[in-house]
Amino acid sequence: MDQMIIRGGVPLKGTIAISGAKNAALPLLAASLLTDEVLTLHNVPQLADITAMGRLLAQHGVDFSLEGFEGSGHSMALCAKTITSTTAPYDLVRRMRASVLVLGPLLARCGQARVSLPGGCAIGSRPVDLHIAALEKMGAEIVICDGYMQARAPQGLRGAEIIFPVVTVTGTENVLMAATMAKGETVIVNAAREPEVTDLATCLVAMGAVIEGIGTDRLCVQGVDRLHGATHRVISDRIELGTYVMAAAITGGDLRLMGARTDRLKTVFATLAHAGVQIDTIEGGLRVYRKEKDLHGVDVMTEPFPGFPTDLQAQMMALMCVAKGAAMITETIFENRFMHVPELVRMGANITVHGSSAIVRGVERLRGAPVMATDLRASVSLALAALAAEGETRLNRIYHLDRGYERLEEKLGACGAQIERLRGKAA
Ligand code: UD1
Repeated sequence: MDQMIIRGGVPLKGTIAISGAKNAALPLLAASLLTDEVLTLHNVPQLADITAMGRLLAQHGVDFSLEGFEGSGHSMALCAKTITSTTAPYDLVRRMRASVLVLGPLLARCGQARVSLPGGCAIGSRPVDLHIAALEKMGAEIVICDGYMQARAPQGLRGAEIIFPVVTVTGTENVLMAATMAKGETVIVNAAREPEVTDLATCLVAMGAVIEGIGTDRLCVQGVDRLHGATHRVISDRIELGTYVMAAAITGGDLRLMGARTDRLKTVFATLAHAGVQIDTIEGGLRVYRKEKDLHGVDVMTEPFPGFPTDLQAQMMALMCVAKGAAMITETIFENRFMHVPELVRMGANITVHGSSAIVRGVERLRGAPVMATDLRASVSLALAALAAEGETRLNRIYHLDRGYERLEEKLGACGAQIERLRGKAA
């Protein structure tokens, strides 16, 4: 297992290109199952999760060709001319929860799907009951057997009103994809408004789907008989962007983040402005640096879009560890998303957890230590803390980072970070 060694204390200076969004690319790849024509995707990031989704789609019969590189992103052509298997096996699904995104498209295209239940993960139980209930309302018969969801819709899916009791991103995406080819109208109420859902909807429309209300919490889909091929460019990764904004802030550096947009992270940028981070729009991106020497503690509560994203909560906590004053960070989306706290404490942070809130009292400086990554965003929060810490941090289990951050050490290294990957070291 690889390890990462980070020697902290260097203010990062330079330019970083923001990659295509992982969480947009994953449902877009799954959408290739909806048509027997070619779906071409540009700006696909090179990440372990994308490879995992590729492997899953390949065993459903999707043909891939890599159509070269553009900047850091891949261009990929996917063709699901014939679906050879409607089973998504446990071994592939357990590695990545987003595999559940094949359920809606397979049901819509083939009238059947057998998809392993994803099981637990480090940030909580994360059930898929809302995906199942919605597809049942659309006429699917779903039984759970041997750890698999066995879904059938022999007469095809039919439109329905789906009211989600809580906002679910992949749940909305699954139903959206299924609804494109259902008979009649589907209305999704309390739909997720995340930019990645909007990106999927935009691509589905390019494939011939009829969707109204894109970008709102009420999506109206008129089913069509078939979808066709299309070409689509994946949006840039707002979570990667937010992470590098915090990297500039935590190290007292000055970064130019190219391909970055402000409109998908308004709440985060407003919060960071209160904390003393300056974010200027420049041609082609953003420039980020501290307004003054010290950062200030600010309170944060995670919420569905357009609120503060749970996927930036751990990074924000790392930042608050070195701010003046206290910050209360409340996690409302996932029940167990403070796994980074004990590791940050090992680096000298002062954090107390009370239920779903953590009080972070800023310290003068963090100190390097051996730490263990637990999930994707927790891992990168430890990398941020390490960049600001005195001395050396040894980060174990960095395969989590490879799931969601494209060429992290190269991007940070080019801005002066002392960061090195040791291949094949035991955890
Ligand atoms: C997606 C993102 C993930 C992000 C999360 C919240 C992808 C591939 N992943 O995950 O990075 O952290 O949104 O923004 O896009 N829930 C249920 N039953 C369900 C579905 C969800 O109870 O059937 C609950 C979850 O346990 C959680 C909440 O709803 O408490 C939101 O989860 P959801 O939006 O579904 O997360 P994902 O789509 O898995």
